[in-house]
Amino acid sequence: GFEPRVFSGVQPTGNLHLGNYLGAIRRFVELQDTHPCVFCVVDMHAITVWQEPAELMRSTREVTAAFIASGIDPERHIVFNQSRVAEHAELAWVFNCTARMGWLSRMTQFKDKAGKDRENASAGLFVYPALMAADILLYRATHVPVGEDQKQHLELTRDIAAKFNNDFSARIAELGLGVAATGEDAAEGATQGYFPMTEPLIDGPATRVMSLKDGTKKMSKSDPSDLSRINLTDDADAIARKIRKAKTDPDALPSEVAGLAGRAEADNLVGIFAALAGRTKADVLKDFGGQQFSAFKPALAEVAVAKLGPITAEMRRILADPGAIDQVLSKGAARAREIAAKNMAEVKKIVGL
Ligand code: ADP
Ligand code: NA
Repeated sequence: GFEPRVFSGVQPTGNLHLGNYLGAIRRFVELQDTHPCVFCVVDMHAITVWQEPAELMRSTREVTAAFIASGIDPERHIVFNQSRVAEHAELAWVFNCTARMGWLSRMTQFKDKAGKDRENASAGLFVYPALMAADILLYRATHVPVGEDQKQHLELTRDIAAKFNNDFSARIAELGLGVAATGEDAAEGATQGYFPMTEPLIDGPATRVMSLKDGTKKMSKSDPSDLSRINLTDDADAIARKIRKAKTDPDALPSEVAGLAGRAEADNLVGIFAALAGRTKADVLKDFGGQQFSAFKPALAEVAVAKLGPITAEMRRILADPGAIDQVLSKGAARAREIAAKNMAEVKKIVGL
């Protein structure tokens, strides 16, 4: 079978928020103890929409600082930015030729991000999922911790891996580059192909953190309203103010999870509390069921500040020395390149390039 490996990426597009932390970065930290990990600041994904160059570089350092401040150890695991390892672009091209127009046309993120003026969206935004598949499969990663919003892209990654394995099965066998199948049913000499079927790791109470202003929209970096999200750079006052102003309904909190159905805003705030406190929603409602939001919100602000305050402080400390961050990224890129170069050379052989 494939050696277990985790890959995940975060875009340096500014405004890192609570959703990125709970849905992704926090999970990265946990996985460090069980898997070899590759954590990537995906700057080439960022430029699928316009980015100010100086701001992009600042953001790349900010995401790196957030990784480290949250507890990712760049000595033990690989932390780097995507554009420094050219093989990402190279494999993405191969996958542009593997993926079908129809597959890409069904991606809901493209439809959301391109909006009504699709003719004016970059071609990069359309093929973004092929680059994402390349990021993951370049390291033959078996697991990807992501938020719910990335589930469809992970399915596409598996479709690309399966088509590549199938299209080139004879060639992969001839070159002896397939990974041996394991388990009782595996026939003599059977292989699982060159690329693994990567699994998403999506679980816990905050895989989809919603906007504080609209419980039907996900919390997002690109929401024009700063009140819609808690940024990882917000201080205690800002966090408390945003939670106080968060949209809610007039009812008291229910005492059971079933009572959150149809109450998107209440469900979101309880889920955030649970994720930050490391508890289940049911457990949180045992304490707060029957109480008004006027009582729950200050408690939520307190948990949020206790959890995020130290991370914010550590991020500021790390960001004060941009040279040190650049050094972390350079070292990480060198380590990533070792794996990437070997795998890309094999892919080229398989394809006949
Ligand atoms: P964004 O969607 O805010 O631009 P990215 O695309 O860089 O952020 O996503 C980084 C990671 O954060 C991904 O794993 C994504 O699934 C996760 N993520 C983003 N927004 C949310 C959210 N609102 N709730 C949970 N996870 C999220
Ligand atoms: Na996203």
